[in-house]
Amino acid sequence: MEHLIHPRVKNIEISGIRKFFNMVADRPNLISLTIGQPDFPTPEHVKEAGKEAIANNFTTYTHNAGVPELRQAACRFVLEKYGLNYHEQEVIVTIGASQAIDITFRTILEEGVEVILPGPVYPGYEPIIRMCGAVPVYVDTRDNGFRLSAELIAPYINDRTRCIVLPYPSNPTGATLSEQELAKIAELLEGRPIWIVSDEIYSELVYDGKHHSIAARLRNQTIVINGLSKSHSMTGWRIGFVFAPEFLIKHMIKVHQYSVSCATSISQKAAFAALTTGKDDAEEMKRQYRERLEYAYKRLVDMGLSVEKPTGAFYLFPSIHSFGQSSFDFALDLVDKAGVAVVPGSAFSQYGEGYVRLSYAYSLETLKEGLDRMEQYIRQYQR
Ligand SMILES: Cc1ncc(COP(=O)(O)O)c(C=O)c1O
Repeated sequence: MEHLIHPRVKNIEISGIRKFFNMVADRPNLISLTIGQPDFPTPEHVKEAGKEAIANNFTTYTHNAGVPELRQAACRFVLEKYGLNYHEQEVIVTIGASQAIDITFRTILEEGVEVILPGPVYPGYEPIIRMCGAVPVYVDTRDNGFRLSAELIAPYINDRTRCIVLPYPSNPTGATLSEQELAKIAELLEGRPIWIVSDEIYSELVYDGKHHSIAARLRNQTIVINGLSKSHSMTGWRIGFVFAPEFLIKHMIKVHQYSVSCATSISQKAAFAALTTGKDDAEEMKRQYRERLEYAYKRLVDMGLSVEKPTGAFYLFPSIHSFGQSSFDFALDLVDKAGVAVVPGSAFSQYGEGYVRLSYAYSLETLKEGLDRMEQYIRQYQR
């Protein structure tokens, strides 16, 4: 029966992050710096709102686009924080940012069109692009601090270009784009028949100034993806948002409806608390991430590794080129000999080869132990 499975689905592989994690997960005494989710619990008042929803039997389907008050709260949140102007009919509450990405691509992509992405990049885009029959086109950002720029994008634009993905702050590199860089990209794309998919799931975790969205300039061409997984430590609640002009949302809502009907009612109540009384909940977590970032960055530099200093998210992406091993072999060897797990850069497209991703969504104590082991390993085996 194998031949009765769609070749496009057969051709997709499980994410390199998962693959590596599955290989090493049961090693004893392993310090893992692999996970891309906050190590803080969901804020108490958010959990209470979820419990209250259950107690009050708020357990039925909601409006397909999400509870109106939640959509209004999401609009107020992005207006206050990032100066974005959306109204209730221009937002859909999704099952995490992941489903927002899925319904976005399924609404705007068709056979043969091209999608421009930075490389290295989060591995959640390419499989969906391919399932739509579209073609991912990677732009090498390694020599530009992992940042897309108007100059880098321009040569890749042609008649088949349907969309550009701007995933900043970046997983896996921690890079962000400045207001000036966004202005130049907006200038390049303005008026062209090209969508911008701006994945801003780490927007609350910016360490250098504040977060800027290209939607503030190119609202009619932009689809903003966001959610509460990272900002409010709510990965398991599965709440994301997609903001787009109303004429596009009218089509996206059909894809969303026939896929999931609506986001979970209970999680939507919790999300309302997160975006209203908890709108600044990320601040304390951010303070701690910043402290860990300073610590871990310095440790990597002191080990002699070449690493860009991240300005957002909670990842570091040091180069391991000088060790002459593939990132997968390096990561496996590091597990075997030092008991530390990091993610091979090759999980983030071919442009991630020669790097590894460390997450600092771990306590300082865990980070210290992991980095001590890594330092010891480099001293003993790689010098
Ligand atoms: C860049 C990026 N976009 C989207 C997602 C998916 O987020 P969610 O858990 O809300 O589906 C992740 C998760 O790691 C991510 O790193």
